Amino acid sequence: MLFGFLLCLVTTILIYYFGVRRNPRLPPGTFGWCPILGQTLAFLIPHASTSVGDFLEYNIKRYGKIFRSHLFGYPTIVSCDAEFNMFVLRNEGHLFASGYPRNIPEVLGDLTLIHLTGETHKRLRGVALSFFATVKTESEHFLADIEAGALEIINSWKDKETLHFCDEARKFTFNVIVKQILSLRPNDHEATEILHKFHSFMEGLISMPVNFPGTPYAKAIKARLEIEDIARVLLHARRKVQTVDAERRTDFLDVLLTYEELSEEEIVSMVMGLLLGGYETTASLLAIIVKFLGDDPKALNELQEEHQKVLEKKKDEGGGLRWEDYQCMTFTQNVINEALRLGNVVKFVHRRTIQPIQYKGYEIPKGWKVLPVFTGVHMDSSLYLDPHQFNPWRWQNGDDGAGKRFMPFGGGKKHCPGWELAKIETAVFIHHLVLMYSWTPLMDTDVPISFPYLDFKHGLQISLKPLSPVS
Ligand code: HEM
Repeated sequence: MLFGFLLCLVTTILIYYFGVRRNPRLPPGTFGWCPILGQTLAFLIPHASTSVGDFLEYNIKRYGKIFRSHLFGYPTIVSCDAEFNMFVLRNEGHLFASGYPRNIPEVLGDLTLIHLTGETHKRLRGVALSFFATVKTESEHFLADIEAGALEIINSWKDKETLHFCDEARKFTFNVIVKQILSLRPNDHEATEILHKFHSFMEGLISMPVNFPGTPYAKAIKARLEIEDIARVLLHARRKVQTVDAERRTDFLDVLLTYEELSEEEIVSMVMGLLLGGYETTASLLAIIVKFLGDDPKALNELQEEHQKVLEKKKDEGGGLRWEDYQCMTFTQNVINEALRLGNVVKFVHRRTIQPIQYKGYEIPKGWKVLPVFTGVHMDSSLYLDPHQFNPWRWQNGDDGAGKRFMPFGGGKKHCPGWELAKIETAVFIHHLVLMYSWTPLMDTDVPISFPYLDFKHGLQISLKPLSPVS
């Protein structure tokens, strides 16, 4: 261990003196004074997710939107520049590759999509995309499941005057995703088990990678193996039943089973990746929307009017929400976009250079980490007027999201495959929420925080006011 530490120390010093000093074409910046850690702690200090935080603010002012630092154990280029971020994401697998810290593959498994690059990534991503394509082709079923899930949560609030919204949002998105992936219902014991284990799992993803019994990291690896065991049992049971149960529509596990060339390990990893990807992020999106709307009666009012119109149309047609109804929710889409921009569910992604990079006069050596920071772009006042304001109307001409600036779901070959599902879940939940309740956040200070994953310190407590008798 001591030897490893000394080796890293010497390597860091050598990189600094013989690499940085001799290369004047590196972006400006500093590695910080601490070997190995560099500026990681300063970079990770929690801050309101609606701001870039002190570290980025200081460095952007001093060095510009592209600067060098030393983060997560590597010499790093941090970018808050829209164009460079797009250049990085578009050149995935060619100039750059996924560069997540050791926690991600160790806790999520080596075959998790987010960690993969190259041929294996392409093959497994293709499988995931074939499932997401059914969101549109089988929209009727998806919407019906999501609507039932939303109503189950919202109807459970009948006797409540206050609640912690983050918990409710997580329940909803978890129930939706285990239904879509594994056809599990909230009360199925496998679903309860997975949910229980997810808590240890999430803690380990962001903890120090120390694999000793009892550490959050070790607990997370154990939780992953246990969730994988549950997935394996379900997979074996499904293999025995050759035909799709008439009571049940095709889920992601069925789709995976149609790919004969996939190994069991690959199937289980895909299930894990989508369960995780589809749970926390979408719950965070719902929570920030509830926070922003709770503080903005004008936007809430306009949203309520839009959904009243959808409801009136439904009275004549009958039945649940359809794809056409979802497409009519234009102000809802503006609210979702604005919440994604201002709330920054995903602050940045990890890449590494796989060959020396030349970009606008800069040179970045091979093996460096590169962090495209979406928050830096979303909060850029040269791109967005009053960037700190929640203003869903900025999206109404449809041009603010165009092109390179708006990247809440990433871009290039690793662009989030679940983006549409996330938006549909959010729109359907919002539809029922704004028709049944108005609400007020109870603590002004409970704002979305970037830890760097997004969360509310106090779980976003809100008081509820029913708009009409809840049936
Ligand atoms: C508001 C909700 C969501 C946000 C903001 C979000 C954001 C992102 C971002 C930024 C990436 C790119 C990561 C990178 O480039 O390294 C990503 C990838 C991914 N997301 Fe999402 N996501 C959301 C919802 C979902 C949902 C609902 C699912 C699945 C059901 C999902 C599954 C994935 C997967 C599997 C990847 C890895 C893709 C790859 O590497 O090819 N996400 N997401």
